[in-house]
Amino acid sequence: MGGTCESPAAASVILIRGGRPLSGEVLISGAKNAALPAIFASLLTPEPVWLGNVPHLTDVETALELIRALGKRVRWEEHWLVIEQDAPPSDTPPRELVQRMRASFLCLGPILARKGRARVPLPGGCPIGARPVDLHLKGLAALGAKIEMHGGQVVAEAQELRGEEVRLNYPSVGATEQLLLAGALAQGETTVLNPAREPEVEDLGRLLSAIGAEVSWRRDRVVIRGREELSGARHRVIPDRIEAGTYLLAAAAVGGKVRVRGVVPQHLQALLVKLHEAALEVNQGQDWVQVVAEGRPQALKVETGPYPGFPTDLQPPLVSALTLAEGESVVRETVFENRFGHVEGLVRMGADIRRQGQGLVVRGVEKLVGARVIAPDLRAG
Ligand code: EPU
Repeated sequence: MGGTCESPAAASVILIRGGRPLSGEVLISGAKNAALPAIFASLLTPEPVWLGNVPHLTDVETALELIRALGKRVRWEEHWLVIEQDAPPSDTPPRELVQRMRASFLCLGPILARKGRARVPLPGGCPIGARPVDLHLKGLAALGAKIEMHGGQVVAEAQELRGEEVRLNYPSVGATEQLLLAGALAQGETTVLNPAREPEVEDLGRLLSAIGAEVSWRRDRVVIRGREELSGARHRVIPDRIEAGTYLLAAAAVGGKVRVRGVVPQHLQALLVKLHEAALEVNQGQDWVQVVAEGRPQALKVETGPYPGFPTDLQPPLVSALTLAEGESVVRETVFENRFGHVEGLVRMGADIRRQGQGLVVRGVEKLVGARVIAPDLRAG
């Protein structure tokens, strides 16, 4: 169970003996970043919520600990995670759990919508960037919440949330999710203009529709019609496109033939276009993608961006693959201002990487060498 930037892992050591091509097939797990908001969505209803395809990860355990502290009972039944109401919902999640994992902040919207008030500590900083929550708070205020800060805590109150039009000046994943969650119990329609369109956000939309709120996507907006009460539902979370992309990039880096199964190839398009551009053989079927890498990949120019752009979460493994490419690659990071923690370790292993403004110039080398390195913060590390 590795850590992520959402919750840094306790130190563990992985020993890798390299120098061999990879070959095989991997069944991809459910998406962490779809499972976490789905778990917090269960706070919106007293009815049971059954979630399928939830991965067994530290962050999921943290989310479950948090909803338990807020009055939920949780059990695994075969492949389903079953979440039921145990005690009357509380409005104050434990500080330590919110600060352990940034995604915990998503409990704010559901608690506020259900209880009329919430006290949620601000999530901590993060090695990949400042990651403020101003868009979450502005959005909730637009829906009628009175928001104050007391000693590092957000204290939010609203007798009733009212649907409104909220424009995000950046398509933030978390802020869009926060507003969909709160909008599900708000009166009338909440419209988020310039929302994030990541598959995980759309997956949350499907769960909210399944419990009774109506979510509809248009070109530049998402509209959610709230309900006074929401029901339970069964929902299977989507596969993890970042886990899948990481395996495909591993094949691109060291050569071989790797197939990921149980994926939605459409979610991986930005990566697949780049793998193709790097002269690798990419094949896909309805629920699988395969990369065949015989020689070194060609150098690439890549810029990360909100979906359907190239995912920032795949930038570290992409850079790793490009350290072995033929030619000079340029990778620009536009989502997080400081997501370069992997560079130091790669340089120790012999990579030729230079920082240039908000990006990296990677000159491909023929070979890397083993070294003792630290993979800071991210699962992609
Ligand atoms: N931002 C603001 N104000 C806000 C919210 C965001 O300025 O109120 C900025 C952030 O500082 C950042 C940018 O907007 O520079 C993007 O942040 P976003 O809100 O879109 O990201 P997030 O919701 O904090 C989720 C994932 C991240 C993933 C990003 C981008 C979860 C739990 N986390 O974070 O995943 O990198 O979207 O796709 O869904 C991970 O899985 O380890 C991870 C870091």
